[in-house]
Amino acid sequence: MLAKIFSYFIPVNVVKRNSAISTALEVTWNNGKLVLDSKNTNYSYGSLQSILRKGLRYIGFERIKKFNSILVLGVAGGSVIKTLVDEIKYKGKITGVEVDAAIITIANEYFKLNEVKNLEIIIDDAFEYVLKTKDKYDLIIIDIFQDMVMPNFLFEDFFINRINFLINPNGFILFNTMVISEKDRIRNLDYKKKFNKNYSLRMYPKVEDHNELFTIKKLK
Ligand SMILES: C[S@@+](CC[C@H](N)C(=O)[O-])C[C@H]1O[C@@H](n2cnc3c(N)ncnc32)[C@H](O)[C@@H]1O
Repeated sequence: MLAKIFSYFIPVNVVKRNSAISTALEVTWNNGKLVLDSKNTNYSYGSLQSILRKGLRYIGFERIKKFNSILVLGVAGGSVIKTLVDEIKYKGKITGVEVDAAIITIANEYFKLNEVKNLEIIIDDAFEYVLKTKDKYDLIIIDIFQDMVMPNFLFEDFFINRINFLINPNGFILFNTMVISEKDRIRNLDYKKKFNKNYSLRMYPKVEDHNELFTIKKLK
């Protein structure tokens, strides 16, 4: 395809859409890969996929393969779901929660997310969903951004406690954060302190420049 070859020299835009929630969603060929970007950052595939793949590697592909159920908060184009299914060969149940319906239309149209058999997509606010759900999970991936901004609820006790309740013993949380300012750095240090001895927390700073990843294991 010409656009793909051309994209090794300059990015080639395929579609640009606004939705009620996100401004300027763009699908672009970049270095031979189709990626999804928001106004100021990469949302799916591209660097975001590498970041989360690193996080999954820290937890261990073999361990993940044995999990029964995975919750992904923030789906966008679904690149972490593709890593789970195509690279890790994960066959258990995946639930993806995404607040922006328009982004799921793009994910289906351009990235064929609807062809993933073991995936259920729920259009809802992640905060609302975790309050309502009665299901428990072996892995919860938290990857929620509004362009470059992380909503405050992600760092508040109420949400943290609820996520901790939804994780099975020996299960993991993978939390992707962006650290740009000193305020963000302090916010993350405070977050770290919220987990007691029943959890094993690791922080991986400087993943692709601005991202800091947390893996948190529930010990019992
Ligand atoms: C970086 S993208 C997610 C990328 C995705 N995990 C992947 O692997 O390709 C962040 C997503 O979070 C979504 N989002 C933002 N606020 C949300 C909320 N309150 N509830 C659910 N999704 C939200 C955005 O619409 C966007 O699609």
